[in-house]
Amino acid sequence: MTPVKRQKNQALSEDLGDNDPAGIGRKPKYAKVYVKNDDAGQPETVVLPIQGYGLWGTIYGFLTLESDMNTIKGISFYEHKETPGLGARIEEPEWRAKWSGIESYDENGNVATGVTKAGNPKENWVDGISGATLTSRGVSNMIQFWLGEQGYKPYLDTLREKSGQTVEGADTQANQSKPAAQPKTELAAKLPVANGKEA
Ligand SMILES: Cc1cc2nc3c(=O)[nH]c(=O)nc-3n(C[C@H](O)[C@H](O)[C@H](O)COP(=O)(O)O)c2cc1C
Repeated sequence: MTPVKRQKNQALSEDLGDNDPAGIGRKPKYAKVYVKNDDAGQPETVVLPIQGYGLWGTIYGFLTLESDMNTIKGISFYEHKETPGLGARIEEPEWRAKWSGIESYDENGNVATGVTKAGNPKENWVDGISGATLTSRGVSNMIQFWLGEQGYKPYLDTLREKSGQTVEGADTQANQSKPAAQPKTELAAKLPVANGKEA
């Protein structure tokens, strides 16, 4: 996967130092994001690569957002080292389904979701996996990191504005400059650099 390889390249990634809630060490400066446009050329689905440390290693996955770039459509994980029957349950459709319809941001544009400890329900948060608190926490940290200012938030704000939506979210009032009218677009999201300098 592209973000992983890029991370090893010092020029194309930055050392997060102590500011590394997702435990990824280095953050790629670019990530390959998939945007599926509707027939009118407006973003319909946005697929974001995500990664973060679980209990035993880095978990890699994709987070999919709806056209408001706020509502979660789905989440999936394609690589991890979590224990079968415990942390590996993040792969189960039943748990992944809990993310569907969750709103990523509050009305101020702050990330407003994550994973709770199992059995401690919280509105708009996903219930953690019993017996896998550490993996659940890893997923929570990674979601919050990638949806946040260090992750895709600036990119999503731009995409939302381009499609004529308000930065806070949800109401679509079409228009201004639209992204290219293609059924499927692939593009590189430039991720914010902590020190403000470019390579
Ligand atoms: C062999 C073994 C494998 C484990 N694998 C995981 C795991 O993949 N994810 C996880 O969060 N906890 C795992 N745990 C449990 C953690 O050590 C810890 O007890 C657990 O995360 C606490 O969750 P709880 O508060 O829901 O009980 C494992 C424990 C053992 C002994």
